[in-house]
Amino acid sequence: MADNRRRLTLFDFFLLSASLVCLCLAPIPASAHRRKLRFGVDGEFKILQVADMHFANGATTRCLDVLPSQKAHCSDLNTTVFMSRVIAAEKPDLIVFTGDNIFGFDVKDAVKSLNAAFAPAIASKIPWVAILGNHDQQSTLTRQELMKHIVKLPNTLSQVNPPEAAHYIDGFGNYNLQIHGAADSSLQNKSVLNLYFLDSGDYSSVPYMEGYDWVKTSQQFWFDHTSKRLQREYNKKPNPQQGVAPGLAYFHIPLPEFWSFDSKNATKGVRQEGTSSASTNSGFFTTLVARGDVKSVFVGHDHVNDFCGKLKGMNLCYGGGFGYHAYGKAGWERRARVVVAHLNKKRKGKWENVKSIRTWKRLDDQHLSVIDDQVLWSDSAKGSVAPRL
Ligand SMILES: *[C@@H]1O[C@H](CO)[C@@H](O)[C@H](O)[C@H]1NC(C)=O
Ligand SMILES: *[C@@H]1O[C@H](CO)[C@@H](O)[C@H](O)[C@H]1NC(C)=O
Ligand SMILES: *[C@@H]1O[C@H](CO)[C@@H](O)[C@H](O)[C@H]1NC(C)=O
Repeated sequence: MADNRRRLTLFDFFLLSASLVCLCLAPIPASAHRRKLRFGVDGEFKILQVADMHFANGATTRCLDVLPSQKAHCSDLNTTVFMSRVIAAEKPDLIVFTGDNIFGFDVKDAVKSLNAAFAPAIASKIPWVAILGNHDQQSTLTRQELMKHIVKLPNTLSQVNPPEAAHYIDGFGNYNLQIHGAADSSLQNKSVLNLYFLDSGDYSSVPYMEGYDWVKTSQQFWFDHTSKRLQREYNKKPNPQQGVAPGLAYFHIPLPEFWSFDSKNATKGVRQEGTSSASTNSGFFTTLVARGDVKSVFVGHDHVNDFCGKLKGMNLCYGGGFGYHAYGKAGWERRARVVVAHLNKKRKGKWENVKSIRTWKRLDDQHLSVIDDQVLWSDSAKGSVAPRL
């Protein structure tokens, strides 16, 4: 008996240590990280952008800037309901949260608020990613802790930072995603659409440069390096492709170049407030245009601007405010931006590379109205010259 028990205890100890080691080594969440994103059999890939939820504590957190008649029955839960409805209506392939996911100043527990804010995306089982705005860290978690929590949530493809750049890159929540060609097509193993997510920071800590943060040199270097690596993979055998696959970039704080547009010369959408960019221009717009793969930038931050404008071949698009605890404009519906990329169909009816990228917005009204449908880019567009490697 005694012997038996001792052996059992030792064996138990062995099992416990083994399982602890396994737990520590297990990539979390294994299934989501291994999931390869690819175009559907319909030749489409659709992305839903959710900008500025400003989620706080749920039912007890009241709405800002709604009509007097809406005030009494409006809380964070309306943000949740809107998200469930728009996900059901659009059935996107990826959901992107572009920061100010939670409004730190009013948040009691950042973990609880984040979990509640992302809950409809998690429940949908659709892959999703998040980056940070300037308000997410203003409660119980730092920016690094926020991203470390986010990457552990179910079905997310978010990353704290790319492993190869983690030692030099500024911020938390810089990464890219590759969208592969349709299954059973010649490009099924190639990334035909590249997504870049960047941490545009919160507030400048540099003396003499007050105001909002910007995409730092280290991040621009990582972007440039990654874009070139992806182009080399796109161009190499088997099935070598010409030029560069189109890309889309998502971050929170607008580039100063967003100032280039008003409601009249934006391609679609409106400007109803200024652009709260950094007080200094860090040159990311130049870096993007010079590299040439990114066709559109998508930001949040200025909730009542929802335009797309085109400057030097680059689309600069606002998402438009989504959340009810975020400032907005009473009577001007909360909204979300949808982006769809379509593939070319060429030889033998098989899908190939990306043909066009379009966008529209969904309003949180009775019928989730679709507005401002527009083509952002198509492969026949002038100036889609292969950038030099
Ligand atoms: C918020 O949700 C409540 C409860 O469903 C609803 O009655 C109200 O109309 C919603 N408010 C807005 C502004 O959508
Ligand atoms: C893609 O990769 C899979 C698995 O390695 C392979 O079986 C398939 O033949 C590849 N397809 C193409 C078109 O390269
Ligand atoms: C849009 O119009 C404004 C005001 O007239 C002007 O300052 C700006 O340069 C224009 N932008 C573009 C991209 O043409």
